[in-house]
Amino acid sequence: MDDRLATRFDIPVRPRRNRVSAAVRSLVRETEPSPGHLIWPAFVIEGRGAEQPVDSMPGVSRLSRDLLVERAREVHALGVPALALFPALPDERKDRWASESTNRDGLLQTTVRALKDAVPGLCVITDVAMDPYSSDGHDGVVHEGRILNDPTLEILAAMAVSQAEAGADIVAPSDMMDGRVGVIRAALDECGHQDVGILAYSAKYASAFYGPFRDALDSAPRAGDKKTYQMDPANAREALREVELDVSEGADIVMVKPALAYLDVITRVRQAVDLPVAAYQVSGEYAMIEAVAANGWMDRDALLLETLTAIFRAGADMVLTYHAPQAARLLRDAAR
Ligand code: PBG
Repeated sequence: MDDRLATRFDIPVRPRRNRVSAAVRSLVRETEPSPGHLIWPAFVIEGRGAEQPVDSMPGVSRLSRDLLVERAREVHALGVPALALFPALPDERKDRWASESTNRDGLLQTTVRALKDAVPGLCVITDVAMDPYSSDGHDGVVHEGRILNDPTLEILAAMAVSQAEAGADIVAPSDMMDGRVGVIRAALDECGHQDVGILAYSAKYASAFYGPFRDALDSAPRAGDKKTYQMDPANAREALREVELDVSEGADIVMVKPALAYLDVITRVRQAVDLPVAAYQVSGEYAMIEAVAANGWMDRDALLLETLTAIFRAGADMVLTYHAPQAARLLRDAAR
């Protein structure tokens, strides 16, 4: 044997001992993502038997209600307990006041009913925000180029009640108007929906990572941007203040969004509150992984599990991810 291979130093602590085998690595693993903590965001369109791929999100399609219900059944069977639903509406259903959002026979409401009928054990989370319904592509009422806070609240409250009536288990305000969690909680309670929870998009940043989502919903702002209501990516203390307000107004779960570029915020929120913390691995995060994988530059499955693990390690209790079906399959196979 080559003498050089016999070199020994006196090293008192050897961390590599805890990485020596797959068995030991399993024992010492601190963070284990599991399908039970994933939420699958999904887009629904009008029609039957319709599937429209989203160009900037390879592998993701907008599905008509019938196809979505079938897909949701499969995803639920993989151990994913919840779905976050987003309606992609044609322009003719959009107006300044998001009127379509309270139509009890609207796309969202009928889809919630169909999902709850077909897969009763699935937790259906609906998005409370004007943008999918707004001809202005904003999350609030636009007047003379400004986004009006308080007139928006009434619309959001009515939207949340309509979603609860359709059978939503949790409503998720993603608009970032001031005071909306309290107004929505009061409206839900007044209408007898004490058991419907609120997942608050508390620290939602004005992010370039939402681009593909806006393609999917054709919901990009027609004028201006969302910086007067979504947060400045430079701020973390402000996130704690937003979270604190949503908690005091009655949020059941608070969210940080996007996820990967905001891991520090997730950690700080986790340390600041006792409520469950959600993180949203958004459309642009999905698109980045798919783009590099399609180029053969990095390994999709490994990236997907590594990013998810990082988000849980940072302190998230649950993660919304378009990769939920793939992640659930990988995690199931790894456990075998
Ligand atoms: C808007 C909303 C957005 C997302 C969820 N709800 C985008 C936006 O603020 O324009 C983005 C989700 C994603 O990018 O995956 N109410």
